[in-house]
Amino acid sequence: MFLKLVFALSMTGLAAFSAEATSAATMKELNSSKMPFTLPALPYAPDALAPSIEQITMEVHHGKHHKAYIDKLNAEVLEKKTEKNFETLVSILKNTKQFSAAVRNNAGGHWNHSFFWTIMAPESQKSKVSPQLQRQIDAAFGSMDGFKEKFEAGARDVFGSGWVWLVKTSDGKLKILTTANQDNPLMDISPEAGTPILGLDVWEHAYYLNYQNRRADYVKNFWKIVNWKQVSSYYQEK
Ligand SMILES: [Fe+2]
Repeated sequence: MFLKLVFALSMTGLAAFSAEATSAATMKELNSSKMPFTLPALPYAPDALAPSIEQITMEVHHGKHHKAYIDKLNAEVLEKKTEKNFETLVSILKNTKQFSAAVRNNAGGHWNHSFFWTIMAPESQKSKVSPQLQRQIDAAFGSMDGFKEKFEAGARDVFGSGWVWLVKTSDGKLKILTTANQDNPLMDISPEAGTPILGLDVWEHAYYLNYQNRRADYVKNFWKIVNWKQVSSYYQEK
């Protein structure tokens, strides 16, 4: 199932908001997307996450940064016909060792951002974590507050650009992992494997326009816009 959205032509003129597009509602859909990759629509209007994340940040982040990863990925994989012709996005992530650094960075950038948009929602649509996921959070971190504290510490400890993740391990347990640049725990080069169910972009481009160097404030406000319904759904997904 896809979330179908049509955005009105943006005042900024960003082409990304002018056309109908889809964003994956399940990880399976995202993982199985195929070349040429396309920019998924945001599952909400670009101003919908304000004031936690302001409209201008969303427009630049989605319409410029995310789009650039996709354009470069398509150029690397399709036009230059790099090493192997892997068909799906996840097959590239799981075989990054066989590709150039450019493919690794841009495939990661595309997956990470496509995923990131889906795990947020407007504050007015606040949702609750499922009882199943809450139990696992309690088991791994003691409580939701305990989890948030450790996740925030992870975000703080990423040196430079990267991501902090809540992942489900192969035995269904939860772990917090961090990755540099556009790497993620699905990749074959990841020191620790896991399936992300929540992730936070801590690149400066994700927050600098509103928060400047105050990454900790950005992370605190992120909790107001987490789409726990979607995160719980990712936890349940096989
Ligand atoms: Fe980003």
